[in-house]
Amino acid sequence: MPLFVRPGKQIRIQIPSMPGQFQFSVDRLVEECVELQDQGIRAVLLFGMASGKDERATEAYAKDGVVPQAVRAIKTRVPDLAVITDVCLCAYTSHGHCGVLKTAHSPQHTAHSKKTRGLRASSSEHEVVIDEKASLELLAKTALAHAQAGADMVAPSDMLDGRVAVIRQALDRSGFSRVPIMSYAAKFASSFYGPFRDAVESRPMVGDRRSYQLDPANAREALREIAADIDEGADIVMVKPALAYLDIIARAAERFTVPLAAFNVSGEYAMVKAAGARGWLLERPAWLEMLLAIRRAGADLIITYWAKEAAKALRDR
Ligand code: PBG
Ligand code: ZN
Repeated sequence: MPLFVRPGKQIRIQIPSMPGQFQFSVDRLVEECVELQDQGIRAVLLFGMASGKDERATEAYAKDGVVPQAVRAIKTRVPDLAVITDVCLCAYTSHGHCGVLKTAHSPQHTAHSKKTRGLRASSSEHEVVIDEKASLELLAKTALAHAQAGADMVAPSDMLDGRVAVIRQALDRSGFSRVPIMSYAAKFASSFYGPFRDAVESRPMVGDRRSYQLDPANAREALREIAADIDEGADIVMVKPALAYLDIIARAAERFTVPLAAFNVSGEYAMVKAAGARGWLLERPAWLEMLLAIRRAGADLIITYWAKEAAKALRDR
């Protein structure tokens, strides 16, 4: 179950583009976690929100940041609930990108990742240049801060090349060799993340994420990315989004032997919610069918905003 945690006290704000999903302050989040565990949920995936943003995403790796606070609080109150943390910078950078940006005067020649070069719809004036070296260091710091707070697993979602290896090394060096990494291995540059970006206020201020997320047209590149992450030490690999990428899930399930996760993302949730609210389709059978399809395609784990209702549905069957 993905959960959004924000600074403050006694806050539980519904996300307009994701009815039924909330931004929680740590205290209210813990209450939600108690309830989730009662419903049969065994793991949550935490997304943090910033109280202040800057170009280097300082709050992302602060030891007393909102995610470390939330992890400690959940582990104290509901220790058996597995806590996975999303590791990224985009909710904490002033520009909204998943890494830190190169400054105008720094050298640009190394900045392009190995992701597909060639014909793309993006115009170069909107292309942002990520400082990969600086970003990887900060992502590793973020993962470490989460592990030190007691996270059971970390989940890097930035899609920058090489981050799994860097995070693995940082964790191992500090005595967290038993904390696994679930990598967002095949994360596509998708329009289905829209509501999520509203939820954590992480919409890029300039450009888009196409220089580091995958081209939806390219299936083989996705398989190469998954293989690379496994090579670097990923324990679980993820395909994201799920529904428009069931073919990738199916191919990855056949090809690789590590557990495979699929992220049933915010836009996939929102569209069923919207149609359901208008009476254009029946919500519950629609999402049950979606989750079934993701499972049928070969996902071992599903990250879904319907987790709470799905747990209940499966229990009451
Ligand atoms: C960003 C991130 C995104 C999601 C999880 N982490 C989206 C993005 O690239 O903007 C999407 C989750 C969802 O849509 O439910 N690192
Ligand atoms: Zn990000």
